[in-house]
Amino acid sequence: MQNLTVHRRLPDIQEFKNLRIAAEWPIPSDQQIQTALSNSLFGVVVFDHLNKLVGMGRIIGDLGIYLHIQDVIVRPDVQKTGIGSMIMKELMEFVHSVGRNETHVGLMSSKAREGFYKKFGFTERPSEKFGAGMTMIIREENHQAATRLPA
Ligand SMILES: CC(C)(COP(=O)(O)OP(=O)(O)OC[C@H]1O[C@@H](n2cnc3c(N)ncnc32)[C@H](O)[C@@H]1OP(=O)(O)O)[C@@H](O)C(=O)NCCC(=O)NCCS
Repeated sequence: MQNLTVHRRLPDIQEFKNLRIAAEWPIPSDQQIQTALSNSLFGVVVFDHLNKLVGMGRIIGDLGIYLHIQDVIVRPDVQKTGIGSMIMKELMEFVHSVGRNETHVGLMSSKAREGFYKKFGFTERPSEKFGAGMTMIIREENHQAATRLPA
């Protein structure tokens, strides 16, 4: 795709919501988004020639041992045109600028997106060495249960 502009910054709340809507991902509250963005380490946003937002990515973590890539999203109508790779290139530059020996860089791939991340050096779990990645999503209906630890 021609005439793209890449900015090394986080999206604002509305930009973030627009891309998540485009990806058909759930939309957290504005307050949650604000907290999430302001606690992020690094972000990238990409605009097309009409100055329309077409993609984003961000990194969270402790700047020492763990970095996590989140919210890599390209608008569906312009996917497979190289924008995702541009975003990942910026994110990986940041990762390599702050990562040290034994820094772990993680991400949770969406279904069927593993091939995209493999191109940037990520390996799938479970593997011979590592167990599966595991996850939990807090939802209103199970929030009470989720905060009760097993006896
Ligand atoms: C995953 C995503 C970010 C990829 O962005 P994109 O702009 O389409 O990717 P690119 O055009 O830069 O593709 C780069 C390469 O990855 C490949 N690729 C893209 N999507 C792929 C997929 N689902 N599986 C395997 N390879 C894929 C492309 O073929 C291309 O290969 P090439 O370099 O050999 O030509 C995009 O599909 C997206 O936003 N999906 C919806 C949100 C999402 O699932 N994000 C991931 C969250 S973990």
